[in-house]
Amino acid sequence: MSRATVYLVTGSNRGLGLGLVTHILEKHNNAFVYAGVRNPDNASSLQNLQTKYSDRIAVVKCVSADVEGNIALGKEIEKRHGRVDTVIANAGIYNSAADVVDVSVASMEEHFHVNVTGTIVLFQSMFSLLKKSTMPRFVPISSSGACLDGLAVKFPTGGVAYGATKAALNWTTRKIHFENDWIIVFPLSPGPVDTDMLRVAVAEDKSGVLQTLIDAETSNVPTVETVSVSLIKLIDESTRDKEGAQFVNVDGTRLPW
Ligand SMILES: NC(=O)c1ccc[n+]([C@@H]2O[C@H](COP(=O)([O-])OP(=O)(O)OC[C@H]3O[C@@H](n4cnc5c(N)ncnc54)[C@H](OP(=O)(O)O)[C@@H]3O)[C@@H](O)[C@H]2O)c1
Repeated sequence: MSRATVYLVTGSNRGLGLGLVTHILEKHNNAFVYAGVRNPDNASSLQNLQTKYSDRIAVVKCVSADVEGNIALGKEIEKRHGRVDTVIANAGIYNSAADVVDVSVASMEEHFHVNVTGTIVLFQSMFSLLKKSTMPRFVPISSSGACLDGLAVKFPTGGVAYGATKAALNWTTRKIHFENDWIIVFPLSPGPVDTDMLRVAVAEDKSGVLQTLIDAETSNVPTVETVSVSLIKLIDESTRDKEGAQFVNVDGTRLPW
């Protein structure tokens, strides 16, 4: 059997992260997955996977921007595998639908902390482990809501804390590409996915515009399973030449920054 591919997926307690972990384990029978969650003792959603794939999954603590905790996770992975091949920085928040005029400082800071600083701290703590991989990939999950010329910025959907920090995430991710010529790194937009995050975003958008935009894009919001299949294929087949520093959409096309 060939050498296992070692993945780390953050925010895997539910939603897209859980779907990504599930699909990696189902698709790659020699992959090992570190499933990052805030509280491993309460990650009941991952119990079935732990039972089914007991020798190929470790549910690990990974809280966004927790420097010491991320370093400790790096040490744990170092001890067990000596490297990590693919890091999917999926953990993210959308907790506020406020417009620019209303958004609170606390909300802006919280979104920046999780969506941007969290990804930077994760990259820092996985840096030496990625360097030991023969095919290192670091893929932050972004959003079309970050597009500077996109619908989220042009219509009164609110969500400045989310959109602005995902745009900052894109900037940071592109910067990582140019600072490090050995790694495959790009922001990846999943499009709308039927998760808690989307449901909250739609419910909190009092203008109703977000629902209209989603309806215009798709008759059925894609399931976590469907999107996970597309994202893992894209990630597994990505190269530095093709995807490096590109803003990649779930359908494989490029999104404008
Ligand atoms: N759903 C969509 O339509 C959509 C569209 C575009 C982009 N995205 C992006 O896709 C990614 C996954 O979103 P989702 O839809 O699956 O959202 P979700 O259902 O709200 O799940 C978010 C995940 O992130 C984790 N998380 C939140 N704050 C964290 C923190 N401080 N530290 C560590 N983990 C934290 C959550 O952990 P707990 O379970 O412990 O709360 C949860 O596992 C996000 O980056 C999101 O921006 C989603």
